[in-house]
Amino acid sequence: MPTIQFQLNGTATAVETDPDQTLLDVLRGRLGVTSPHFGCGAGECGACHVMVGDRAMASCDMPMWSVANKEVVTVEGLGTADQPHPLQRAFISEQAMQCGYCVSGILISAAAVLKRNPSPTEAEVRTALDRNLCRCGSHNRMVRAVLRAAAEMATS
Ligand code: FES
Ligand code: FES
Repeated sequence: MPTIQFQLNGTATAVETDPDQTLLDVLRGRLGVTSPHFGCGAGECGACHVMVGDRAMASCDMPMWSVANKEVVTVEGLGTADQPHPLQRAFISEQAMQCGYCVSGILISAAAVLKRNPSPTEAEVRTALDRNLCRCGSHNRMVRAVLRAAAEMATS
């Protein structure tokens, strides 16, 4: 099997794999990176979102060949328990989750929009999160959290 190389959370990573295996399978299985979750498996719910470059993308239907030599970021690369990302602090402050299953995908979608646009409007945040489903109905709090993080990042 070929070896596919890419950057994962800032670290050069090489995986010997079937090029058609999904990135989500490789992340959660071989690499033990478990923040991206399996939801629909069809690119519809956003639970498996990872950042590729400056875009949030579904990893459940992304073949490994398509990430060769690209930069992939998961929640593990955003922040740590000791040094959380401003988005993670804001989600806690706004209590922007219930069960939490969708949250890692939503954090990635939010991080991607802030990377492209550090001062988004509320409408732009809602558009950025539009592909992420939350069955607990926490969307409004999540939008507030993203705007709070953007404001904090603008003054730091
Ligand atoms: S599990 Fe990938 S979009 Fe739903
Ligand atoms: S917090 Fe439960 S699905 Fe979003």
